[in-house]
Amino acid sequence: MTQNPVKIAVTGAAGNIAYSLLWRIAAGDVYGPDTPLELSLLEIPAAVGAADGVAMELSDSAFPLLRNITVTDKADVAFDGANAAFLVGAKPRGKGEERADLLKNNGGIFGPQGRAINDNAADDIRVVVVGNPANTNALIAQQSAPDVPADRFSALMRLDHNRALSQLAEKLGVLTTDFENVVVWGNHSANQFPDLTFATVKGEPVMEKIDRDWYVHEYIPRVARRGAEIIEVRGKSSAASAASAAVDHMHDWIRGTGKWVSVALPSDGSYGIDEGLVAGFPVTARDGSWEIVRGLELNDFQREVIAKNVEELKSERHAVSGLFN
Ligand code: NAD
Ligand code: LMR
Repeated sequence: MTQNPVKIAVTGAAGNIAYSLLWRIAAGDVYGPDTPLELSLLEIPAAVGAADGVAMELSDSAFPLLRNITVTDKADVAFDGANAAFLVGAKPRGKGEERADLLKNNGGIFGPQGRAINDNAADDIRVVVVGNPANTNALIAQQSAPDVPADRFSALMRLDHNRALSQLAEKLGVLTTDFENVVVWGNHSANQFPDLTFATVKGEPVMEKIDRDWYVHEYIPRVARRGAEIIEVRGKSSAASAASAAVDHMHDWIRGTGKWVSVALPSDGSYGIDEGLVAGFPVTARDGSWEIVRGLELNDFQREVIAKNVEELKSERHAVSGLFN
């Protein structure tokens, strides 16, 4: 273990998600057990004191890989030399709200953070946006960072992906690892499309094992509305599962995966998704880059549901166009 530490920035460090996320990162679950790391915690001024307390607890955990912790309310400081950034800090929705209702409050956070990343982060910076509405917030950050390659910005669809796997595993009485080629397309919203068309279970087509009516009328809405269901039952939005998904996302991006996972990326126009929109695609990862799975033939149902997501993302983009550089 001779290499220099990597620097990982986490925003919203005093919040619920960070309270799970930081412990997983510090344990080495993102870069692996041989990579020492520094944590850089960004909070708003009113919550810097609480973030200091989080940093004290991290220190008390005596993680072998953790070399330094910085707490700050200055984005330029937080992202200085950062190799990875988890943009979590944003208001969560409450009961009865949709994630897009948060745009007005949260959208303004991501332009300045994108600019600070642009001006200060390391050349290999990779960003995952978790704060909702994650796809459009990622678009705002990406548009504000013209010197950073667009494909270094992503938004979290992995929680939706993990929900899609676990709901299906429960239905079929198998393990989540028995599936291949599951994907959640589109927006991290109630319109998202958990798509089983290409999915296999132990090598056999999933669509031959399930009833289409259950798939369309129960499974898809159940996965797509799981965030609202958690808020209803738990009284607060998902936190530990979101942190776990964010770790899965960044781990696979950096360390690679040959298995399909769902990631929201700036579209290159594939599958009829307008170029630039940050949308969920089926991807694999190699040599530190996501690769969209190419050459899939989409049927009418898939095209229709993906088109609904594109319309929603376009209308969110329209609503925030004033926040771009
Ligand atoms: P929380 O309210 O517990 O914590 C948010 C923290 O962000 C607070 O400590 C707040 O002070 C901080 N913050 C606000 N503005 C900031 C800024 N400009 N810079 C730095 N920090 C800032 O919320 P939470 O439960 O941790 O959720 C955070 C966000 O993640 C919410 O928007 C929530 O909806 C979203 N979320 C997304 C997913 C997903 O799958 N994409 C899953 C769960 C939650
Ligand atoms: C989730 O999917 O759990 C998060 O996006 C939180 C929410 O508002 O649903």
